[in-house]
Amino acid sequence: MWARSSALCLLALAAQPPAPKPLLRGPIAVYEQACARCHGPNGSFYGSDLGLGKTDAQLYKAVQAMADNQGQIELTSTELEAQTAYHRAIIKREPFLAITGRTKSTLCGEVTKGSTVAVTVAGKPQKVRVEGFVWSATLEGEGTVRVTAKRKNAQTQLDPAKAAHSHPPPRLERTN
Ligand code: HEC
Repeated sequence: MWARSSALCLLALAAQPPAPKPLLRGPIAVYEQACARCHGPNGSFYGSDLGLGKTDAQLYKAVQAMADNQGQIELTSTELEAQTAYHRAIIKREPFLAITGRTKSTLCGEVTKGSTVAVTVAGKPQKVRVEGFVWSATLEGEGTVRVTAKRKNAQTQLDPAKAAHSHPPPRLERTN
């Protein structure tokens, strides 16, 4: 019996991987602290050729070099990946979304300034507050959570059960 139920339990785990951990330091907060004084709020001082022709791997390297040198900030590989994703969102002119905190009944995170944020649980709209680049939501009920940000004519969606931020760089990208 025990063996059978533990096998069932393993199956359930395999079918539903745990949600990725919220980011302790959101990439927009990191950017504001270490990068914005040179590159402007939300990258507004970058030229339109930011990242032109760069793969995500090359963009990651550029972000890492900047963090180590001009930025003077130590970032973990997860944080570098999130910062690269934020830059990809800037390049694509799409709103960026991140999850920085989660309890059973609340969810909070970052969004590109000037965006609206909508959160649904099983399709039902939840209460959301946005202040600057920080948003928070109270969650009621059970079911799939979806976070959607809109800014100008662009939209970004995030499933917090699958990712802690939008615009993820593919991990095993080839550069050719
Ligand atoms: C002291 C000013 C300064 C700070 C702070 C700074 N940068 Fe830069 N950054 C520059 C300059 C100047 C360039 C262009 C020349 C170069 O590539 O070295 C640049 C280039 C870049 C590029 C490449 C742009 C392209 O088109 O390829 C990226 C990406 C970048 N910075 C990201 C960051 C990030 C992320 C941070 C914060 C962790 C940061 N920078 C902090 C001055 C700064």
